Order: sequence, then structure tokens, then C-alpha cells
Amino acid sequence: MRPTKIPVFFSTLPGVCMSFRAPKGTDDVLPPESRRWRELLRSWDLLAEQYGYAYVATPIFEATDLFARGVGEATEVVEKQMYSFRDKGGRHLTLRPEVTASVLRAYIQGGLSGEFKGAYSGPCFRYERPQEGRRRQFWQLGVEYLGAPDAEADLEVIELGYRYLLDCGLGDVVVHVNSIGDAPDRVAYHALLSGWLDERSHLLSKDAVRRIHTNPLRVLDSKADREVVADAPVPLDYLEGETAAHHDQLIAGLQERGIAHRHAPRLVRGLDYYNRTVFEYIPPSYAAAHNAVGGGGRYDGLSRLLGGGDLPGVGLALGLDRILSAAGQSPPARALDVFLVVADQERRSLAHAFARRLRAAGVRCDLVAGRRSVKAQFRAANRRDAALAVVIGAEWDRGMVTAKDLSSGDERTIPAGEVAAWVIGGPEGGR
Ligand code: HAM
Repeated sequence: MRPTKIPVFFSTLPGVCMSFRAPKGTDDVLPPESRRWRELLRSWDLLAEQYGYAYVATPIFEATDLFARGVGEATEVVEKQMYSFRDKGGRHLTLRPEVTASVLRAYIQGGLSGEFKGAYSGPCFRYERPQEGRRRQFWQLGVEYLGAPDAEADLEVIELGYRYLLDCGLGDVVVHVNSIGDAPDRVAYHALLSGWLDERSHLLSKDAVRRIHTNPLRVLDSKADREVVADAPVPLDYLEGETAAHHDQLIAGLQERGIAHRHAPRLVRGLDYYNRTVFEYIPPSYAAAHNAVGGGGRYDGLSRLLGGGDLPGVGLALGLDRILSAAGQSPPARALDVFLVVADQERRSLAHAFARRLRAAGVRCDLVAGRRSVKAQFRAANRRDAALAVVIGAEWDRGMVTAKDLSSGDERTIPAGEVAAWVIGGPEGGR
């Protein structure tokens, strides 16, 4: 999938050669794929802004305790997957395995109050067994809606992720949704579930047995124990009044908004901070081992856990790596709109001035550095994947250039002032 050419470096030790590869489970993002990558990031920023979310950036590493407390000591992420280390000052730090806990920490530390809608994108790190869609460094696109207790906030977040995935070309995506209740509902339900699981412990996997008393909910969506838990009691059947009403309002809203969804009674998610709504985006055509391209839910208790006041919250994160493999690579747009070919070398500085004008008009434009033959410049135009080659030669004195469409070979002499219009509207765009 990736180029396998290995750069060779010479060590300072005579005769010793070393080669380097990216660490296992990490990827380089190179052109032309990087264009689609950037496109998806840009459209995420734009869509989040359209829904009123402001961009948030938090550190790539945080105190280990933030994730241990926030995500939960008994979760797989904290137990097995964190990249934790001590810095030279002896502080326990961790490369972020997710961003929600960081956004909450930043909100509390920044002394913010009231409603807050934040959007982010960036790398996260989990020590997982690498495979397609399961990387050790991966990119998340997310939003967090803080301070809004109402089911309408859950709906907005779900709708935003759904719309984005449709725009990415994942037309068959279905939102799997469940409610795991609030802490009071869960006391009774956990006791019931633990008892039910205890009676069947001889049938359960080792991991499930370990979780019966620490994190029984997680056993519900354990792949290894699917058959055993098929008729276990599910959280939805034990919701109390307000929690049940919240869920009903959510389902009615999904229907009203035309969001394809399905009730998933055993969906509990792998992070411990959730209450009430949990959801995942599943495109059925994406057959990788882990088929959710994103997920999220409500976390009304997280702020208190992290030392803040009462603050409801709901959010989602999508995995960019998974979206790219699920959506496939649509043919990337051309890398450049215009490549300038300078026929008379004495016109080089004119060509540079023209390039600056085109760029100021929003045209992606480039030219070779230094003197080269016209043939070499055309070769460069093709190699750099430009849509148009624009030749600056003798006709420049009449305000004209020759523009050549590098796909069709269509060539015309046009006024220099019409190049930007051709880029935007095609050969007739300037007329
Ligand atoms: P999560 O389900 O752990 O949720 O991760 C969200 C998404 O990140 C996954 O659906 C997947 O697309 C991607 N992802 C996770 N691990 C990997 C991996 N090893 N390789 C590639 N992609 C991966 C969260 O992280 C929550 N913070 C979501 C959230 C936001 N909940 C509330 N607000």
C-alpha cells in the first residue's frame, strides 16, 4: 500500500549502514493520497463551524491520571493501550488515546462556564495490534457539546457526524444507538447483570470473568462472549422515568431527521465516562475487523470526575483512517491548477509576478525554480499533476499567453487576464 523504498543513512561509525522505517502501526501520508486527507479535514472544520463549533487544540500528551480517571482504570484503553512515559522531571505522562478528557480538562482549567461547543482534529495513540483500521497512531475528528443536558444536543451531535459521513461518500452508514442509563439506574442494573454473569462464569472468556465485578457492562459487547450474553438483561429495560424519556425523545428525533438508525441493545462502548446515550456509526459495506467509523455519547459525570462542577456533555469522534478506507479513494483532484512555462528566460521575473497574481486570485499555481528548457518545464507540469500549462512567451507583449489543458491537449492563446477564469469555469470561463 505504501512505498517501500527505504532511505539509507550512513552512521558515524565507519562501514555501518542504518535504514529507518516509520514505527509499526503508524503511517506516512504522502501525495496524492494526502490531498483527499486534507480535503476531509477541511470539510470537517467547515461543517463543524456551520453547526456552531469553535476549533479547540489541546496538547498531544497529558497527565496519565487524566485518562486513568476520565476514560476509566478498568477500560482496555487504559489497561493495555496507553503510550505512557515519565519525562525528565519524573512526571507521568501519556500520549492522548482520545480527546474528550482533554477538552473537559481545558474547559475546567480555562475557567470557562456555561455552554461550550468545541471541535477538533488530530492524532491519537493507542498500542493496538496493527491492522487495517486499527493503527497505533490514528486521526480523530471530533466535537464536544458541553453544558447541554437535553436530548436535542445528542441529536445535533449525531446528525453532524451522520451528515459528514454521507458527504464523505458513506451513503449506507447506519447509526447504532443505545442508552446505558444514569448512575442511579445502573447501581441496580449492574448488581443484576453481575449476578446473571456470575451464574454463567464457566462459559465466559477470561477477560469477561475478570470484568464481572469491575466493569460488567463491557461484557455485553465482548465479541468472544456474544453467544453467552445474547439473552442477558440489557440496560434499556431498566431505565428510570427521565432517562427513559430522554431516550424516547432521541429516537423520535432520529426518525424525524431522517437519520438511518438501529437500536443496538448491547452497545455499551469501550470508555467508562458515558451515561444515557451511546452511539456508533456503522457503514455495513466496511468489512474491516472493527467496523465502526466513529462513535460517541453523553458523559454528564465526567466533569465532576475531573475536578470540575456539574456539567453535562455529549460528543463524538470519527476515525479519519477508517473513513478513508471505508469510502475508498475517490480520484483526487489535480494537485495544481496552473503550471507556468517560461519560454523566454528574460521573462522569468514577469512570470513570478504573474504567479503571485494568480495565487492572490485563489489559483494553485507553480513554476520551476531556475532556468530549464520548455520541454523540461512541460515534463515538470505533468509530473506535478497540473491541470493547465500556461506558456509565457513572445505574445506576453500583447497581453496574451498560450494555455494548454494537460488532460485534453486543448490549446488556446488567451488574454493573460482570463487564465484565472479558465481555471474556474473551463476554456469558455473567461468569455
Ligand atoms: P472511540 O470509539 O474510542 O471514541 O474512538 C472514536 C473513533 O476513533 C473510532 O470509531 C475509530 O473510528 C477511531 N479509532 C479508535 N481507535 C482507533 C485505532 N486504533 N485506529 C484507527 N482508528 C481508531 C472516543 O475516542 C471518544 N472520545 C468519542 C467521544 C467523543 N465520545 C464523546 N465525545
